Amino acid sequence: DPVVIGVDVGGTKVVAAEVGVDGTLARVARRPTPGRRVAVALLEDALTEAVEEVAAGRPVAGVGLAAAGFVDAAGERVAFAPHLPWRGDRVRARLTQRWGVPVALDNDANCTARAESAHGMAQGVDDALVLTVGTGIGGAIVVGGLLRRGRNGMAGEFGHARVVPDGRGCECGGRGCWEQYCSGNALVRTARAGLEAAGQGSDGALARACGGDPATLTGPMVTQGAAAGDPVALAAFAEVGSWLGVGVANLVAGLDPAVVVVGGGVSAAGDLLLEPARAALTGSLVGAEHRVVPPLLRARFGPEAGVVGAADLVRRHLA
Ligand code: BGC
Ligand code: NA
Ligand code: ZN
Repeated sequence: DPVVIGVDVGGTKVVAAEVGVDGTLARVARRPTPGRRVAVALLEDALTEAVEEVAAGRPVAGVGLAAAGFVDAAGERVAFAPHLPWRGDRVRARLTQRWGVPVALDNDANCTARAESAHGMAQGVDDALVLTVGTGIGGAIVVGGLLRRGRNGMAGEFGHARVVPDGRGCECGGRGCWEQYCSGNALVRTARAGLEAAGQGSDGALARACGGDPATLTGPMVTQGAAAGDPVALAAFAEVGSWLGVGVANLVAGLDPAVVVVGGGVSAAGDLLLEPARAALTGSLVGAEHRVVPPLLRARFGPEAGVVGAADLVRRHLA
């Protein structure tokens, strides 16, 4: 059978895979995202390479794209993407033409919600909040079993809620956005500051992982460091997790979901992120002792949920 391919276009990396009807991945291809200020063609070349690597010469039924950006209601354009070069680009039509196969497009967090609703932690759940914590924070709102898109198709952009007036500058052009305090970038920044504060005295797993140079730290290094019990890495997860839990409490106050599902790159860290977040959620949710506090769950497909949901999306268009 012709293969169905899902592609997650994130702020740090591009992940493409062949996806089965039950959400299983085969033949995963990865590329670094070329940057957010580069020519659009560079990004689309990287996507093309990843898709060709997965297809490996076999016929392709369709490609679903999960984009880290504001996708319009029609699923045609990426109107804006803080971490990617697309600005109003008609991505779906252009890549359909370039690849000669059906292409479907949605926001990455929306794709994560599709995957988790279809075969993951939100299966059969009417009211769910889905977040992705990666380079930034993405969001999706499921109400009455339906993904809600809003007037522009852009509902769920919680990552750019201003949580600190005059706070850290954000790639969106704003200041004090939630994702500047709670994301893969924030995790690395916090861990880096911790290592710098510890100075030469720090010889833990994290200092060793980056060869003593905090500038070379990456998110996966912080996760491995925390798993090995490194105190600087654990403190970074405690801080970022706490920002996650407080933000989730605010969203739960507004939406009252039955579950909150977290995907995105940082969800690979599992409870290292979610335990401090659960504590902050319970501690800051209004009326917590008078309600059912929703469980805060790692996406069943973890960081790959966007790829799975993108493939589900294009498969639905093919049917
Ligand atoms: C973007 C969202 C995206 C999220 C996660 C945010 O910065 O505005 O559209 O879903 O990052 O990738
Ligand atoms: Na969204
Ligand atoms: Zn922002």
